[in-house]
Amino acid sequence: MATLSKKPEQDAISPFDGQTLDLKEGLNAAWTLIEEGVRDRRSIFHLPTVASISVDGSPTIRTVVLRGVDVSERSLRFHTDRRSAKFLELTRNPRIALHFYDASIKTQIRLEAVGELHVEDSLASAAWKASQPFSRLCYAAKFGPGEEVAMPPAAPTPKDAEIDDGFGNFCLVIATVHRLEWLYLEASGHRRAAFDWAKDGTLSARWLAP
Ligand SMILES: Cc1cc2nc3c(=O)[nH]c(=O)nc-3n(C[C@H](O)[C@H](O)[C@H](O)COP(=O)(O)O)c2cc1C
Repeated sequence: MATLSKKPEQDAISPFDGQTLDLKEGLNAAWTLIEEGVRDRRSIFHLPTVASISVDGSPTIRTVVLRGVDVSERSLRFHTDRRSAKFLELTRNPRIALHFYDASIKTQIRLEAVGELHVEDSLASAAWKASQPFSRLCYAAKFGPGEEVAMPPAAPTPKDAEIDDGFGNFCLVIATVHRLEWLYLEASGHRRAAFDWAKDGTLSARWLAP
């Protein structure tokens, strides 16, 4: 029987922990880990790596904060600045991939998704209002992400901008997942499974050679 190298106080479920070889249970456990990433800032799942396709066609990745998950909709949410490279990239090609690896449970989860951009609409407005004032202030920065600057600029403070000044730069990204893949590392044999949702929402699940 496989054992998990997690701390005793951790209750985190791993889809791959040797307790289950049931694909459905594994999928539910994977979603639970991702949901915990929204609630728990210390969770590995709080900071996914997000990949997109840059305008010259090369892959590009970055860390974001996971802000929300809706399992029934298969959607994940994160925030970004509309002045960032990824915003332009997603307007051209909305396909994204997300990656998590939690070494404490030897678990990698990879997602393939389509990103939907929300700027200055009701969903963006609700996400903006739910954000911390400090986070909102960042969007009022004079220079957009990636702009060349003479010196690293100081973060905006309430002296420089009103808390809502940056709303026009704020973008809520809703990523709808169509593939979830998990990999659990186990000396006696790694376990890898893939879950694909068709356009009509039909789920197919299968084991893969690791
Ligand atoms: C811990 C951490 C959290 C971050 N969270 C976000 C985030 O939620 N949204 C975001 O757009 N960038 C976030 N960033 C910055 C991005 O990783 C990236 O540097 C920036 O968005 C510019 O990426 P781009 O040029 O590919 O658009 C974060 C970086 C780190 C290290």
